[in-house]
Amino acid sequence: MPQLLHIDSSADLHASTSRELTALFAQTWAEISPDHEVVGLDLHRDPLPHLSDAALHYAQRLRVAGEQPDADAEALQGRVIEQLAAADVVVIGAPMYNWSIPSTLKAWIDYVHVLGTTVPFDTPPAGTSAQPMAGKPVVIVSSRGNTYAPGSGNEGDDHTVPPLVQVLGVSMGMNVSVVTAELTLAQRIPPMAPLIEQGKISLSAARDSLIDLARTLGA
Ligand SMILES: Cc1cc2nc3c(=O)[nH]c(=O)nc-3n(C[C@H](O)[C@H](O)[C@H](O)COP(=O)(O)O)c2cc1C
Repeated sequence: MPQLLHIDSSADLHASTSRELTALFAQTWAEISPDHEVVGLDLHRDPLPHLSDAALHYAQRLRVAGEQPDADAEALQGRVIEQLAAADVVVIGAPMYNWSIPSTLKAWIDYVHVLGTTVPFDTPPAGTSAQPMAGKPVVIVSSRGNTYAPGSGNEGDDHTVPPLVQVLGVSMGMNVSVVTAELTLAQRIPPMAPLIEQGKISLSAARDSLIDLARTLGA
């Protein structure tokens, strides 16, 4: 049964672009066949607590004397990693908040990026993989008020997509695709009104890309 893990993190429950786009991806995925399952994880409605102990960043064998995280926190981390491991494909709504990602999504990243567990660090114990998420497709849906496209002059200010690519793609070995919807603030901020049409084109292209990606990854 192919399983999609559908993650949202926008704090906008009324008119969120990333929520609309991740929902389109999930709907397209579910329409492929009745076997295509969707598991939802809404990090805004059900936020994870911030990482309570730095020791959770390391597999048990890499911890030093005295590092003993709270058992409940460790169990929670185990469930979060298991949920990711169980997914065949992941879609993540990652709106730009202050040039970065929402803190709720960052908390999830802090739980799943674990040296010696999900990231190669040393020789793993027999029977375990150094990079268990390697090759798992993950689609990042990044909505942003302004444009950060090449040539916009703002491209170096996007601290949303690069850290997600670094953690999920480079470090954890996942197969990352990125879809952006830009200029969402053109509808709200009067001086940006001349960019409304460009924003609509960006949104339309994002919808098309996500439908294609869902069909390809779910085939
Ligand atoms: C807390 C907050 C911070 C934001 N910071 C930025 C920013 O740094 N750059 C930007 O282009 N847009 C920024 N925006 C606008 C959002 O990126 C934009 O509204 C986007 O569509 C949010 O995604 P959503 O529609 O899925 O909620 C911010 C919005 C909020 C609520």
